[in-house]
Amino acid sequence: RVKLPQYNTIDDVVTLLQNSNNIIVLTGAGISTSLGIPDFRSKTTGLYSQLQHLGLSDPQEVFDISIFREDPTIFYSIAKDILPSTSTFSPTHAFIRLLQDRSKLLTNYTQNIDNIETHAGILPSKLIQCHGSFATATCLECAYQVPCSAIYTDLKSGRVARCDRCVQSLRQAKPTGGGIKRKRSYGGLPPKSHKKKREDYEDSTDEDEDYEVAVAGVMKPDITFFGEDLPDAFSQRLTLHDRDKVDLVLVIGTSLKVAPVSEVVGFLPRETPQVYISREACSHVDFDVDLLGDCDVVVAELCRRLGWELKHEMIPHE
Ligand code: OAD
Repeated sequence: RVKLPQYNTIDDVVTLLQNSNNIIVLTGAGISTSLGIPDFRSKTTGLYSQLQHLGLSDPQEVFDISIFREDPTIFYSIAKDILPSTSTFSPTHAFIRLLQDRSKLLTNYTQNIDNIETHAGILPSKLIQCHGSFATATCLECAYQVPCSAIYTDLKSGRVARCDRCVQSLRQAKPTGGGIKRKRSYGGLPPKSHKKKREDYEDSTDEDEDYEVAVAGVMKPDITFFGEDLPDAFSQRLTLHDRDKVDLVLVIGTSLKVAPVSEVVGFLPRETPQVYISREACSHVDFDVDLLGDCDVVVAELCRRLGWELKHEMIPHE
């Protein structure tokens, strides 16, 4: 992409913000780090730098769907570290809300799974959660969906959450007059195939409950893992609704290393100005303007120059 030569400075961005009415804001983990939520790829503080103990060849495998299917305990062992635990939001979230209140927000495409945009009041009609969220969880076996609050205790304690509906149908399938129990005591992971095999069990009237729970369908929070499709709304909104309307693109707090979200900027019309706000420059995309630094500080400064009041208790130092 060839840069648009007329946009270079922070004041050019101020003018663009004044004149634009269909702004796409594409966000990543960097907009939540001031709330104490780690990003993924920052060298010493990012989640991926903290996962050596899992012995994975690549830390991204914690979000790999085939690895999750094989061994969900890996994801569940770190789930509590990425579970949203705050209902506050950052000045950058407040800034996106301000764009919405001023009828300037076309869409906020977020890769974040913390759902904090909702706390900040971004309307569902303006929000695409490209990588899903922790709002709901779905059974891998029977597709039964529950609010994530239903499996919160499991997520918090690192125990693999099991599907209530699968547990129930296992119970109903039990032969009358007695339960079924595994011959050897159940110690570790359930077998890869969650289908019970009759020859593995002997009749019993008790102690089958733990095993039924242990082999019932695995619940997976509805965040998009590597190897899974993004929600349909992502490409539909981008291609059918936004591409012809967008007049400014703000990319904030993302390394743009994960496709297909990383391809959004290249997909949008070349004459649409693109601004990057993050700690470090993005070496693989040529933005028209880079505003490098803490995104909360940058948006506060933009608002100061615009004369917009950024209502937020956490406005960082000037
Ligand atoms: P990354 O960790 O890759 O990038 C976050 C970027 O934000 C980095 O470039 C940081 O330098 C920058 N940053 C951090 N704190 C900041 C701050 N306060 N102000 C400004 N910049 C800051 O996170 P994402 O790009 O969001 O997928 O990662 C994309 C996807 O990769 C995630 O959605 C996740 C991950 O695998 C899933 O969870 C499925």
